Amino acid sequence: MTDPDGPAHAAGVLARLDALRAHDLPTHGGRTLAYVYDSGLADADEVGRAALAMFGSSNGLDPTAFPSLLRMENELVGFTCNLLDAPETAVGTVTSGGTESILLAVQAARDARPEVAEPTMVLPSTAHAAFLKAAHYFRVQPVVVPVSDDFRADAAAMAEAIDGRCVLVVVSAPSYAHGVVDPVTEVAAAAAARGVRCHVDACIGGWVLPYAARLGREVPPWTFDVDGVTSVSVDLHKYAYTPKGASVLLHRTPELRRPQFFARADWPGYTMLNSTTQSTRSGGPLAAAWAVVQHIGDRGYLRLTEQVLDGTDRLLAGLVELPELRVVAAPDSTLVALATDGSCDVFTIADEMLEAGWYVQPQLTHAGRPPTLHLTLSAATAVHVEEFLAALRVAVTRAVAAGPVRVDPGVADFVRSLDPDALSDEDFDGLLAAAGLIGGNAGGGVAAEPGAGAAALVLPRRMAEVNALLDLASPALREALLVAFLDRLARPVR
Ligand SMILES: Cc1ncc(COP(=O)(O)O)c(C=O)c1O
Repeated sequence: MTDPDGPAHAAGVLARLDALRAHDLPTHGGRTLAYVYDSGLADADEVGRAALAMFGSSNGLDPTAFPSLLRMENELVGFTCNLLDAPETAVGTVTSGGTESILLAVQAARDARPEVAEPTMVLPSTAHAAFLKAAHYFRVQPVVVPVSDDFRADAAAMAEAIDGRCVLVVVSAPSYAHGVVDPVTEVAAAAAARGVRCHVDACIGGWVLPYAARLGREVPPWTFDVDGVTSVSVDLHKYAYTPKGASVLLHRTPELRRPQFFARADWPGYTMLNSTTQSTRSGGPLAAAWAVVQHIGDRGYLRLTEQVLDGTDRLLAGLVELPELRVVAAPDSTLVALATDGSCDVFTIADEMLEAGWYVQPQLTHAGRPPTLHLTLSAATAVHVEEFLAALRVAVTRAVAAGPVRVDPGVADFVRSLDPDALSDEDFDGLLAAAGLIGGNAGGGVAAEPGAGAAALVLPRRMAEVNALLDLASPALREALLVAFLDRLARPVR
């Protein structure tokens, strides 16, 4: 903080906030193809911001104290039920995001089966990492089933993996990494046959696919229309284009939802009664989501979906002209994964794109499959697809001229030989410094916190070398290195 001795002038504080975000990725404009979702509708953004501010101090802890929040939650859940073919019995909860919806789906599934001493959860290898986080938090053993060659869940192998300890089976509609919808019908039927819950993770596609179907597109079945689907998660802060902090978790019946609720009366304060992992929670994100959904409305979402799907089509058509890149799987919605032909690497392309003002997200080698570039298209990106393709053409040309990043074979062997469990804090300091992630100045870097002092971390602007090194590392080593990195990033500024 700059001035611990006295109140700072409001305008000065806001100016400092503006300065702080100078190095952030742009949230609007359609040039950031991960993390953010932009409708391109200034009015909808304005309505969302106003609602966020209006309800920022209200508390979702007690629906009787703030009935407005309960009403908004029930209306949002109702809208979502209509979208996802939910039966009359369906109920739902607004949570803070996809991860919280997933945590609650796993926790409810586990707690519905208290007789299972060592519960398991069957999931495809492409399921979002939030399920592994839930498995870790709630001590549910993940049984990860490799996907088929088309990156969709292998329904037969998943059915095989369901045993008497299994409390939940998971599918995605679509998966984040490759943008394809799993065979929900087959997997849900196998789960139902064993009396096991089946959760559909539609966090990223749940607001697009129903409109895509209404627009006449081919959409594989995935909603509550599919027998055996017991719960679905859908994020509002993705393709409903609402401010961050809003997702919906639907259950087919109130009985399925009940274990998600937590009540504690056995203490001297108020009886705690929660539907989510949070207790006190701001009404801001809920009100903002309600306001944006009201404002854009069903017909607005239909138009936005048409716009973003048309943009995705034009992107795919344009990519045919770039022989160095290949679309890894024909996307079922608006997410595209690209791999190279080996003449260049995705990491250099990502750096070149960033230089040109576009953020695309590298995805590292996994299960023997090469690294890819992930593109999440927003409605606001759709109007810039031709510009995006032109920038990509230049980025690929430059990346081919530079050639793939070559990691010194000695360094590569060293990285492969590292055992993350045997590394000390000093080892991590050395490794992170060698990668240019901490200490000294990695040329052209960006101070993580402008003005944070001599110890400020410097994030390299070009990440290709770092990504190429990480790409050689095992997932366990990547995790250990990045946790050590985060530990050094997250330090108090006094
Ligand atoms: C399919 C899927 N599930 C879950 C999540 C996690 O959502 P959040 O980042 O809102 O926690 C994401 C995020 O991209 C996702 O794409």
